[in-house]
Amino acid sequence: MSDPTNDPKNPVLAFIGTAFLFIVPAALIVMLGVVGFAFLGGSGLDVKEEAPPATLASSPAAQAAPPAAETAPAASEETAPAETAAATPAGDAPPAELMEIGKASYAMCAACHGADGKGLKAGPMLMAPSLVGSEILLGDPDAALLIVLKGIAKENMDYMGMMASLAAGLNDEKLAGVLTYTRNEWGNSAPAITVEQAAAARAKFADVNAPAGVKRAEIQAIVDAHK
Ligand code: HEC
Repeated sequence: MSDPTNDPKNPVLAFIGTAFLFIVPAALIVMLGVVGFAFLGGSGLDVKEEAPPATLASSPAAQAAPPAAETAPAASEETAPAETAAATPAGDAPPAELMEIGKASYAMCAACHGADGKGLKAGPMLMAPSLVGSEILLGDPDAALLIVLKGIAKENMDYMGMMASLAAGLNDEKLAGVLTYTRNEWGNSAPAITVEQAAAARAKFADVNAPAGVKRAEIQAIVDAHK
């Protein structure tokens, strides 16, 4: 460094100069990157960085806690279900409470039958048939109950969807509600289905073994056999 550097002072300075040309912009870029990253993912980073130091044992719990808290408010089985059922009139207007419950529960049907009940479009096809004016929906309550409890067998490609049993996702009140709602929405009109009817159907159709859903042609026979 001592001997040859007498002359090459200029080269050294030049080297340092060039180095600065790179170092300074590089440093700026890195800083911008850090700042930008902090802006974009700032909040997320903070949370994640705090979690690991909280020891191995507590971090999973800490991560699990927020979701649990969010799901908790979804108190689906609030209020007393039985009371709504008792007030079911035989007349025209379906009970408002049952309609409300049914409207909420219909979300699971809308995925195929559409928010307007006419069947959700899937390209040129429909996911499911229209419920508007559906004879099977508006007819014998047990037929409609059977379909929802057991599903309908897919026997052709008329529809894109396939309706499996929805029994597990609907308690008796919601089952009665969703059918009361669909029977009295979009211009449909049919007597409400009571919680008692829903509970009775669930019990009496329990022996119907149709894992892939009941066949359309057999619905009436099954209903008649369980009267
Ligand atoms: C995953 C899609 C899907 C979901 C979800 C679904 N269905 Fe269906 N549903 C169908 C299909 C498909 C058919 C027709 C089956 C066939 O004939 O091939 C059908 C048929 C019906 C029928 C007979 C209608 C007629 O006139 O033929 C009724 C009633 C019915 N569904 C009610 C409901 C209700 C009520 C819900 C919600 C609780 C529901 N469905 C949820 C796909 C679905």
